[in-house]
Amino acid sequence: MKVFCGLILIFTLLSCSTPEKIRDRADFTENWKFYLGDDALASQSQYDDSQWRVLNLPHDWSIESDFSLSNPATPGGGALPGGIGWYRKEFTLNKSSQGKTVYIDFDGIYWNSTVWVNGHLLGERPNGYISFRYDLTPYLKFGEKNTIAVRVDNSQQPNSRWYSGSGIYRNVWLVTVDPVHVDYNGTYVTTPVASKDSAEIKIVTNIRNVTDTSQAIELYSILVDADGREVIQVKAPANIAASQVGITEQVLKLQQPHLWSVDDPYMYKVITRISQDSKIIDTYETPIGIRFFSFDKDKGFFLNGESVKIKGVCNHHDLGCLGSAVNTRAIERQLEILKAMGCNGIRTSHNPPAPELLDLCDKMGFIVMDEAFDMWRKKKSPHDYSQYFPEWHERDLTDLILRDRNHPSIFMWSIGNEILEQWSHIDADTLDLQQANMVLNFANTLDKKTIPSKDLHVNSLLALKLADIVKELDPTRPVTSGNNETEPSNHIFRSEAMEIIGFNYHENNWVNFHEKFPDQKLIITESTSALMSRGYYIMPSDSMNIWPERWDKPFDRPVHQCSSYDNSHVPWGTTHEDTWRMVKKYDHISGVYIWTGFDYLGEPTPFWWPSRSSYFGIIDLAGFPKDVYYMYQSEWTDKDVLHLFPHWNWQEGQLVDVWAYYNNADEVELYLNGQSLGKRTKKDDEFHVCWRVPFNKGTLKVVSRKNGKEVLSREIKTAGKPVSIRLTADRNRIAADGKDLSFITAEVVDAKGTVVPTADNLMKFSLEGNGVIVGTDNGDPTDSLSLKKPERRLFSGKAVAVVQSTKKGGKIVLKASSDNLESSFIEISSERK
Ligand code: GAL
Repeated sequence: MKVFCGLILIFTLLSCSTPEKIRDRADFTENWKFYLGDDALASQSQYDDSQWRVLNLPHDWSIESDFSLSNPATPGGGALPGGIGWYRKEFTLNKSSQGKTVYIDFDGIYWNSTVWVNGHLLGERPNGYISFRYDLTPYLKFGEKNTIAVRVDNSQQPNSRWYSGSGIYRNVWLVTVDPVHVDYNGTYVTTPVASKDSAEIKIVTNIRNVTDTSQAIELYSILVDADGREVIQVKAPANIAASQVGITEQVLKLQQPHLWSVDDPYMYKVITRISQDSKIIDTYETPIGIRFFSFDKDKGFFLNGESVKIKGVCNHHDLGCLGSAVNTRAIERQLEILKAMGCNGIRTSHNPPAPELLDLCDKMGFIVMDEAFDMWRKKKSPHDYSQYFPEWHERDLTDLILRDRNHPSIFMWSIGNEILEQWSHIDADTLDLQQANMVLNFANTLDKKTIPSKDLHVNSLLALKLADIVKELDPTRPVTSGNNETEPSNHIFRSEAMEIIGFNYHENNWVNFHEKFPDQKLIITESTSALMSRGYYIMPSDSMNIWPERWDKPFDRPVHQCSSYDNSHVPWGTTHEDTWRMVKKYDHISGVYIWTGFDYLGEPTPFWWPSRSSYFGIIDLAGFPKDVYYMYQSEWTDKDVLHLFPHWNWQEGQLVDVWAYYNNADEVELYLNGQSLGKRTKKDDEFHVCWRVPFNKGTLKVVSRKNGKEVLSREIKTAGKPVSIRLTADRNRIAADGKDLSFITAEVVDAKGTVVPTADNLMKFSLEGNGVIVGTDNGDPTDSLSLKKPERRLFSGKAVAVVQSTKKGGKIVLKASSDNLESSFIEISSERK
């Protein structure tokens, strides 16, 4: 049913009264029972789970173990165990809720989940990254005990090219609403007209009526600004037929909108109210941002009419020592570190992200490429999603777009990363019958649509089909994909369904892109794959380490660490500097998503065990920036930057390459123990300067100057023996909500208080007060100790301990001790709101 309402625009200056709590969206993450193992009877209500472990979600059971080569995920999947796990939760709903409709919303379970309530099977969902809802209402007992049971099967391994985590690793919500309510992901807000002067806000609302009679309602859509003030509202009557979803369209007109941008991510929200007989029966909020954008084939990306280069990073979803268990503060910290580097874009490689990530990207101003799949029908690892793709791809892709399409931060949909079906040398005959049928069935539905050419390969048709699903649900954003066959013969390109051509790597084809793709727009969906270990340097710094030498040849070396001089990359990649040089220079390159912002668990290319996490990050797994972070900061921000490296603890007489990244200056001068070692100036397309210096202990100092005036200076001193521990918290005050985190860095200092950059002392952490140590890390990809252990060896002089609040406020004291060192403690205050 489609109800188009006449527009009644009511301009009001009255502030919006607080809506009653009509819709209850309760955090449903506390007090679950967990069992690692399988027991078919656990789906039943009467099952005795008294011996099971009690925990709060989000929960990732894989991260709780030590790393081991014997885990079937292999180091590629993070060398942590999978298996089968069960979760159960008892809950009681008030008798007064009888007559309401009650849903359970899962933001994501990895993977193959099956859910029961009171012994009734609700459904199964193989995809580990998708959000989904079940209706509990028919099976609930009000005023009595109810039980939810969830079985999670991550036993078939390997099923991922990176670390997935296992379990109910994202949030869960219990949603109680009136039988007439805004449907799941039931609003779609777009701005068909948007400019600095005015905006037209189109609000499509899906209203579900689960009663068996038609319901007359009034639908209010109220635009509220970032300060919570009502700006404008529209009201329309609607009649929702029995057991139907009614679709209502309303338009708001706004003068001088406050536009959303990466530097000023201004958010409005649309409050939806359903009223019946003068009583509000549902309220629903849709945060929105008003912006307009375009991609130009010659000039790149424009946001609100201004040229913006996309300076993005790809990231996987794990949060280092927290595993993949979602934590809003941990995601926010990652984004803060990236934002401070000048990064303005995130690619959710290669799967639907946590909703919290998108909320934060909206609020913090990132240009997001939201990605659906890493494979279609052709598998990349033995037990991956390809087995579910034929049955589930339509549903999964649809649910992704419906969930995410209101986020102003999303500017592109990616229908896949390096999909094997792209390759033009793979013949159609190698497709299995099921795939061919699936695609051909779709082709038969294309009668009304324009098929670009009659002889399209089935793989091109599949690309067309996926793009079509996206465009039906959201015509406002372009569809792209990440491709490593960068020739026009690529089956995905031949579909002509890609509105922006996405290249992964292959920088030789970037500059002359228009020779082969004359009318196309270009985004570098992925590039670089440089290899670095924080604080580890291979000299001379102008020698290049291409590891592995070939992607298909085994590779190893005794020390599993890579050089932080931006002189190491995989054979299909480049250095950070080379990538940025091209992206910066050519306007037709809309931007780039560097592989990767943060190191992630799994894919320890170029090594294998005992390595178990990646070397690709600009920032290590613990959240410590590697040196190249400052190259980006000097290029991607306006703030004054001067970064000097490496450390100054070497063998006497050893030749050391000293690099500096800087900006906003004409020259830099290096001094060793007060003696000038010369001035350096970056030439046109250089991003660092270098001095080759025989090591002599003491103080290395660099000064940057503009017009002869000092801009910044930096000093590095040779450190002596470790004497004591120094602890520093990223935040000394956290919320006593059982979720908030403080990331505490441990370093050791010598007798003079100089940090020892090469220290590897073992730190033992203990905590007093109302907090918990939820993880420790040091950024070393070869450390096989469980990241949940409260002890950690320093790596290149650093480790982090992550402290989480409990719901009881008060003082938290974290203590660190280590053999032969003075111990240290730090105090955090956990505050109740
Ligand atoms: C790309 C791929 C990424 C990652 C990267 C490592 O080809 O898309 O997922 O594997 O290589 O260099």
